[in-house]
Amino acid sequence: MTYQSISVTPYSPKIGAEIGNVDLTKPLSKEQIDELKRAFLEFQVIFFREQQISFEDQIRIASQFGPLGKHVGVNTISKTTDNPLVRKFHYDETSKRVSGENFHSDQSCAEVPPLGSMLYNHTVPPHGGGDTMFSSMYSAYEALSPKMKQYLEGLTATHDGTRVFGPGTPISVHPVITKHPDTGRNVIFVNTDFTSHINEVSREESNSILQFLYAHCNRAEWTCRFRWRNHSIAFWDNRCTHHKAIWDYWPNVRSGYRVQVEGTSAPEAGSL
Ligand code: SIN
Repeated sequence: MTYQSISVTPYSPKIGAEIGNVDLTKPLSKEQIDELKRAFLEFQVIFFREQQISFEDQIRIASQFGPLGKHVGVNTISKTTDNPLVRKFHYDETSKRVSGENFHSDQSCAEVPPLGSMLYNHTVPPHGGGDTMFSSMYSAYEALSPKMKQYLEGLTATHDGTRVFGPGTPISVHPVITKHPDTGRNVIFVNTDFTSHINEVSREESNSILQFLYAHCNRAEWTCRFRWRNHSIAFWDNRCTHHKAIWDYWPNVRSGYRVQVEGTSAPEAGSL
């Protein structure tokens, strides 16, 4: 199926597409919204260029995908703004760390993790840097051997938010292989930041399996690396991707705002 009301240019063979022919500062037609939703599911992360959006614009577009939610972390690097739905992601010469330097899916420690996150960066370093990498968990799952798929089916893992955001952040248990609620496709649902262990096996076995899965999930073959420009947007599907922020631009400034769309249900187990 092709796209009529927006342009969609794949960004890499396995993940990502750049969307054109839309002005996100204006209300979109029903056809444009339907096609954006289709592109989001098809490409897992969609990118926009030259969109100088306000908080209201960002909230309006993201809300087309579902109600917006709040970050579950207690001790976060990103900060709240005067709008409770919008968080500020700002880094400069005073920054000691940045958010999201390991491949992860956002707040997988929540009982119902966010459906997606939309990051708008209005200011990025002048000579490159600050890229975000994205990795397809569909492709990662599909490349597992049949024996490994069988082994992982039915296992669950603990996702411990206190590892990243400190005491008081949720801890949840999710299947290791989940089924995307909209596409029905299986994904690997563990990540370095939040997953502490697989529940049904010994810690030694869990550590080895997780190490294998992390290396496998983030293989270059199913990643893309988004090069930001001022006023770009990345909007990722948290249910089937990992992402990683690259902090190679200190002491330069990278600054923007993020909103997140709430998930609809706790991740469901996928089966062969
Ligand atoms: C994050 O994962 O928390 C932020 C991603 C980015 O800044 O590129």
